[in-house]
Amino acid sequence: MSLADKLAHTEALLKDIAAKHGKVALANSFGAEDMVLTHLIATLQLPIGIFSLDTGRLPVETYDLMQKVGERYPANPVRVYYPDAAALETYVNQNGINAFYNSVELRKGCCHIRKIEPLKRALAGLDGWITGLRRQQSLTRVDLPEAEFDADNGLMKFNPLLDWTEKEVWEYIRANDVPYNSLHDKHVPSIGCAPCTRPIAVGEDIRAGRWWWENPDSKECGLHVKASPLKRPE
Ligand code: ADX
Ligand code: SF4
Repeated sequence: MSLADKLAHTEALLKDIAAKHGKVALANSFGAEDMVLTHLIATLQLPIGIFSLDTGRLPVETYDLMQKVGERYPANPVRVYYPDAAALETYVNQNGINAFYNSVELRKGCCHIRKIEPLKRALAGLDGWITGLRRQQSLTRVDLPEAEFDADNGLMKFNPLLDWTEKEVWEYIRANDVPYNSLHDKHVPSIGCAPCTRPIAVGEDIRAGRWWWENPDSKECGLHVKASPLKRPE
């Protein structure tokens, strides 16, 4: 399928979601995919909200983009959610400011406080949420559907860029002058929190720079993953 066909499909899906699925919002991490979706929601003037989870540990480049997006798309303000202050204070004072490097459990604990719990608050009252997930991003994402009931969170979940390639995402960004995270120009295709993201080397997997010290099987923060076994390609 050409990019034009994929774009037409994504636009039709977004319009359908906005028309038929009640209160829906995009989860925006300010990565390249989410910027494509932000631009589409803004230009198509769809009644789809946008929210972001500010973990407090994001790279300065992400904050710069967050500010720029607010100025570029004033009709689509991004609602920002923060970690619960008391839970974070307890975690940091008990375990240390960079405790996530010490064990997978402590890393997941940090992700829980800084992302998962705020996500629950962001999703409360919504009928559906939209993500920038793509099948090609990871072995854990190859079987994702375009739309599914997210039983963990109790609402619909839509992945409108599922079949876009990384190249197509960038073709769209360049052609439409969509603002993007400057870390993408520094060999960081997948951006999360600053201490848990690093540039990748040529030929490395696009998510190799996320939680690089961990085994690939544990490398999801829990925002999306279900308790299904890892699928390996044939
Ligand atoms: S993660 O699970 O490893 O963090 P990834 O960075 O690939 O996920 O992002 C996948 C999708 O999850 C994004 O396209 C976005 O929809 C959502 N997402 C991830 N991080 C955030 C965030 N901090 N705020 C809002 N949405 C996010
Ligand atoms: Fe904490 Fe790292 Fe998870 Fe961010 S990605 S919430 S800093 S463990």
